[in-house]
Amino acid sequence: MTDASTEQVRSEPVSGRAAAGKATAAHGGGDLQMRSLTKRFGTFTAVDDLDLVIPQGSFFALLGPSGCGKTTTLRMVAGLEEPTAGTISIGAEDITATRPYKRPVNTVFQSYALFPHLDIFENVAFGLRRRGSKNIKQQVNEALELVELAQMGRRKPGQLSGGQQQRVALARAIVNRPSVLLLDEPLGALDLKLRRQMQIELKRIQTEVGLTFVHVTHDQEEAMTMADTIAVMNQGRIEQMGGPTDLYENPTTTFVANFLGQSNLVRAKVTSRGSDVLEVEAEGQAFTLPARRSFSDSDEIWFGVRPEKLSIGQGDAAEGLRGVITDTSFIGVSTQYLVRLPWGQEITAVRQNDGAPILRPGEQVTLTWDPRHAFALDASQDAHAGEDFGEGELLGSKG
Ligand SMILES: Nc1ncnc2c1ncn2[C@@H]1O[C@H](COP(=O)(O)OP(=O)(O)OP(=O)(O)O)[C@@H](O)[C@H]1O
Ligand SMILES: [Mg+2]
Repeated sequence: MTDASTEQVRSEPVSGRAAAGKATAAHGGGDLQMRSLTKRFGTFTAVDDLDLVIPQGSFFALLGPSGCGKTTTLRMVAGLEEPTAGTISIGAEDITATRPYKRPVNTVFQSYALFPHLDIFENVAFGLRRRGSKNIKQQVNEALELVELAQMGRRKPGQLSGGQQQRVALARAIVNRPSVLLLDEPLGALDLKLRRQMQIELKRIQTEVGLTFVHVTHDQEEAMTMADTIAVMNQGRIEQMGGPTDLYENPTTTFVANFLGQSNLVRAKVTSRGSDVLEVEAEGQAFTLPARRSFSDSDEIWFGVRPEKLSIGQGDAAEGLRGVITDTSFIGVSTQYLVRLPWGQEITAVRQNDGAPILRPGEQVTLTWDPRHAFALDASQDAHAGEDFGEGELLGSKG
């Protein structure tokens, strides 16, 4: 390959990208499947009987608190950790016993681990050179084009920003045309603004190349913005799996309700169970919720409403919950209120800053909501499960 043809690739980013996308899609692969996948370290079970099918070409997020087994799961898929039990396959091929470098899988770790003495081009070319690939220049340039670093090929990693280095790490993985790309907290080292920018970039790249992305994160907002499907993991198990909106709107456990955003859970008793509507009673007041949003067979439930579904009214109203504001946090796009109810419990309400005056602690308010937004969870579950981890990541209110 001559320099002239390299130049041509460089000056035609669109065709370069299209080619990169096509070549990758043609590689095929199939769904990534884990069957009864288990990993024990001594007596401790880090990954517990995991059954998971990740459709080819999807952007899948494994979301859960620190220590729940996310990295261990990825390491087993990559072949860096041997499963105690269970199998892993891609399409029809069982790769459980396949050596790591022979798996059609690449990993981008939180620490990019670029070679500091090699320039960006050579960092990306590294895997191709080792395998004795042909057309290295073209492939590397296409990959750099994809991550929008075509002009930076001759720089050293130390001369790039954190976000740019992250994109080099991504190009270095994508250039190998894996069927599955594993991303383990790849944005963890970046500041919030850059992280948001890279989330959008990553999503664009994934759509463009059509690879299967398995993205590990403990940041619920990151999982929600990027993934088609999220699996919420807790203590080595999948607690709930679904699309971002579905998981957020219909959490089936207190852990998911608390880990994915915030929830207000009030203890209640079911008084009547219709086919469409459930009637419940909490602290002497009657409420209803859609029967399909009840995830408990018991009559003892947690009655839940998300903070942004609550409307805050001033003065007395016949309906709704009365309370007193105990804390006001201005967050820019919205204001978060803590409201103490007559029985002492504090619940959270979030209001968009639409120009209405900010309410102050001490003010009497009435909270109302559309009954269609209420849900019911089993009262045998810990109302605070998953809470310690999710805090500080208020959905849509920060960043
Ligand atoms: N080699 C090991 N020996 C013993 N225990 C281990 C080993 N590797 C991981 N563990 C334990 O297994 C559990 C899961 O670890 P893992 O690294 O998968 O967590 P994680 O979900 O990736 O967490 P984080 O978000 O903090 O990265 C942890 O409790 C961890 O201490
Ligand atoms: Mg980890």
